[in-house]
Formats: sequence, C-alpha cells, structure tokens
Amino acid sequence: MALFDNWRRKALLALLVIAVFASTWGYWFVTTREAREFSRVTYAEHCAGCHGDKLQGTARGSNLMAESLKYGDDTASLVRNIDGGLAAHETLNLPLDIPENTVKALALFISERRQQYPTIPDSYEHYFSGRRVDSRYHRFRVELFSELASRPYSIAPLPDGRILVSEKVRGLSIVAPDGSQGDLIDGAPTAYAELLDLRGSYVGWGHLLEVALHPDYAVNGWIYLSYGDRCQLDCASPVPQSMVKVVRGRIRDGRWVDEQVIWSVHEDYYTVVPDAVAGGRLGFDRDGHLYITVGGKAAYKHLHDMNTPYGKIHRVRDDGTVPADNPFWEPADRRAASSTRHTVWSYGHRTTQGLEGHPVSGAIWSSEMGPRGGDEINRIIGGENYGWPLYTNGLDYDSTEIDIGEDLGLDFPIEDTQLPVVDFTPAPALSNLTFHRGDRFPAWQDDMLVGSLKALSVYRLRFDDNGAPVEQETLVTGLGRVRDIEMGADGLVYIALEHGETGSIVRLVPTE
Ligand code: HEC
Repeated sequence: MALFDNWRRKALLALLVIAVFASTWGYWFVTTREAREFSRVTYAEHCAGCHGDKLQGTARGSNLMAESLKYGDDTASLVRNIDGGLAAHETLNLPLDIPENTVKALALFISERRQQYPTIPDSYEHYFSGRRVDSRYHRFRVELFSELASRPYSIAPLPDGRILVSEKVRGLSIVAPDGSQGDLIDGAPTAYAELLDLRGSYVGWGHLLEVALHPDYAVNGWIYLSYGDRCQLDCASPVPQSMVKVVRGRIRDGRWVDEQVIWSVHEDYYTVVPDAVAGGRLGFDRDGHLYITVGGKAAYKHLHDMNTPYGKIHRVRDDGTVPADNPFWEPADRRAASSTRHTVWSYGHRTTQGLEGHPVSGAIWSSEMGPRGGDEINRIIGGENYGWPLYTNGLDYDSTEIDIGEDLGLDFPIEDTQLPVVDFTPAPALSNLTFHRGDRFPAWQDDMLVGSLKALSVYRLRFDDNGAPVEQETLVTGLGRVRDIEMGADGLVYIALEHGETGSIVRLVPTE
C-alpha cells in the first residue's frame, strides 16, 4: 500500500511538473511570439543601427516613417530598395541562413509599421467619436446611430428606415429609426455564446452570420440569414462542430416565421474550426441567384475538391433550388449524397469576408482576407480558381513563404487562376463591401465601399466598365473594427462596428 502511494505521489508530482512546464512554455510562446518574429529580429540586427529602432532614422540612415518615402513605399519598391537597389546599402550583408523571403518580410515589417495598425486586442477599443472628414469628393461627418448589445456581423437596412442587425453570439434584432435596438426576434436561428476569448480572437461555434434582404423584399418580405449551424450529438462529437447554413424567413409580429432551408451541407462537412473563418456572406445577382461564401475553415486540403463546400462561393436560386448551369453541376444520381459540387460557383478562396452583386452590372465582387499581406478584392467568375493556398501575395505570419499548397501537392499554373483585381498588402483585414447608391453622395455613384477590421478604415474603390481599378481612397479611418457596411434607405452610409463585448452602428452624413 505504502509502495503504491509512493508511486502515485511520484506520478502526480511528475504530471504537475509537466503541466507547470507546458503552461510556462505556452505562456512564453504566446507572449513573446511577436518579439521573436523573424522580420522584427532581422530589422533590429541589420537595419536599426542606421534607420533607428523605431524606424525614425539616424545620422547614418533615413527616416522610414516619413510621410512619403523617397523611393516608394509599396511592397515592390521596398523590396527593390532593401535588396541591392540603393548605393547606401552596398555594404549591407544580409545573412544567408534566413528564409528566402527575408527581404519581402522586411518590406512588410516596414509597411506594417508605417500603417501603424493597432494590435488585435487594441482594435476592439471604442475608437469612434463624432468626426468631420474632408474626403476627395465629399465632406461628411461620422455620426453615432446606435449602440448595440454585442458584436455585430451584419446589418440590413429596411426600406422603412429600420435596420436589421445580426449579432454573432446574441441573435437577430431590429434597430428603430431613432437608433434604439429592439428585443431579439423570437424563433430565429440560435446564436451560441462564445466559448473562448484568446486576446480578442473570439472562438465559437454557432455564430449568427449574415442577414440580407431578397431583391424584391418590398413585395415578398423574404429575409435571408446565414449562420454557423451547430452539430454535436448528431455528429457524435465531444466538442461542438459547425458549418454555414442558409435559411430564409419572414418577420411577423416580432417573430421569425415561414422558415425555409436554402442551403446546407451534410454532417460530414461540419468541422471544429471556429466560425470566425466561416464566411457566410450573401449576395444576389440581377437574375435572383443567391451567392454564399464558405471559408476554408482550415480544411485546406479539400479546397480544390469540388465535392466539399470549403473555400468556395456557392450559387443557388433564391428558393434554394440549384441551377443546372452551375459550372460543376451534376444530377443527383451522378454525385455522392454529401457532395456540394452542384452548388459550387468558384473555388480556391481563403476566407471570403465580403460579397456583393454590383447594382448595375450584377457582377459579383468579393473581399478576401489573406495571411500576412495579400488581402484581395476579387471579381467572381463562374468556374474559376482563385488560387489559395498555392498563390497569394502574402507571407505566413512567421515571415516564411506560404507552402501549404505545395505541401498538399496542389499543382496548377498561376495563369489558370484569377488574380485579385486589387491587392491590399500590408493586410488591413478586409471585411464586407457594398456599392454606393443614392443621391446623398453623388460623386461616389456605384463606387465600392469596403471595410476593414484591423486598419479601422473604410476604403472607396472605383472601377471602370471592364472592372479595372481606376481610383482608391481611404475614406475614413480610426473608426474601430468595421464588420459591415451598407447603404441606408435614406442614402446615408451605415457602418457596423465591433467593440470588445459590444458594438455600434455609425453613419456617414454629408455636410455640404
Ligand atoms: C549602413 C547604414 C544602413 C543600413 C545598415 C541600412 N540602411 Fe537603409 N538606407 C540607408 C541610407 C543612407 C538610405 C538613404 C539612401 C538615399 O537616400 O539614397 C537608406 C534607404 C533605405 C530605404 C529607402 C527609403 C526611402 O526613402 O525610399 C529603405 C526602404 C531602407 N533603407 C531599408 C533598409 C532595411 C530594411 C535595412 C536592413 C535590412 C537597411 N535599410 C539597412 C542606410 C542604411
């Protein structure tokens, strides 16, 4: 007995030591990850001596934080100037034992510092305060419209001036024209509370995602909702699993009624990857087709398998039936019961966080988050490959080249992929987008407005008739994490912001 006790005590002690060691290491790993990051260390060793530890410049090297850089501040110019392009760098001798993309990582490091994006936890701060902005074509003020009980994912302005709001972990509600938020709509899909908060990276399964109106909402009253549908017992899983599901319904007397399932997938495709990368954005074209984004959900090895839903944009009719002119369509008897190939419209997407049909041409546009750098604005064409995870303009977070695609054995030439129409490097973490309509900001007619989580900004982009970018402006910055942006019935621009536990809606009001 004594022997056994002794053994047990030792085993317990050993477990305790291992637990203490593992958690100390884990803590060290997480808290010092940024400080150990490769480009930062390389900068400190090889550049700070001349350019200063805060990039502020010294007698031996120029100020890299200056408003404009002499030789250009885009990634390509930075790469050229760091690596051999400048006489001042002739003596520069970067060590050979560093990853191939050292120079690109250094360029990203400089441009990230120049942008001064806040850290993720800081980006949740309540930044907004009433403000006047003098943009290229219009003067406007940013005005608080509504304080929300929790973080929103999506807003949908109704024709009568009210705004539907989906909050990830709370549910669906309506904000009145005076900005007051009503009770949750009974009977709408369940939104589950978050399970974990990792320094602002909220981890959960079962978020309410997008709310969108049918193009003929005024006539038929259909409201579309996407959400992370949970599966635990049915999936025989010890932890929750989830997957994007789309339903439509109507709101009558404050209740969600007439619900119909529009798009859902087989249980086999539910995953434990959290809903932060689920996508679930919705958009309509002019023929009434509904487009649905589904994130890679880290299931990267399945992204190029048309039978799986991951990393795709799907297309169905407004009632959920599937048009046979979808590019990978097969009749039900020729595909596996679980296959989603009949609804696939485009593939090779990482995390499509924004989607909208152009109000005039009907063309589908999307925004996509890249890794470290390489956020994209894409024009979505049926049957096309958007390249991830083989091609991206970004790097991995640890400064190395993204090699997921090669490791998975993916092999297709970049000429066979659709390149982004606009690349955002460094990555502002692009979120949803819309097109400006109405007469309150006439000089922005049909321009794309796109939000960002990390850069706290809204950008305005203009494209010519062929879809080529002709103009880009940071319309407003310092707002907070922009999750959604929509045109209101009153012609004002409504922007949904996420703060720590709460949220808000602000609007842009012209002041001319
Ligand atoms: C020996 C000192 C020295 C070191 C070390 C050095 N630089 Fe420079 N760097 C300079 C000087 C001087 C200039 C300005 C050259 C000019 O104006 O023609 C410059 C210019 C630049 C520019 C262009 C700035 C502009 O205004 O367009 C970049 C970018 C840059 N350095 C990055 C780096 C990086 C990254 C490192 C480390 C890998 C580095 N430099 C190391 C001295 C140095």
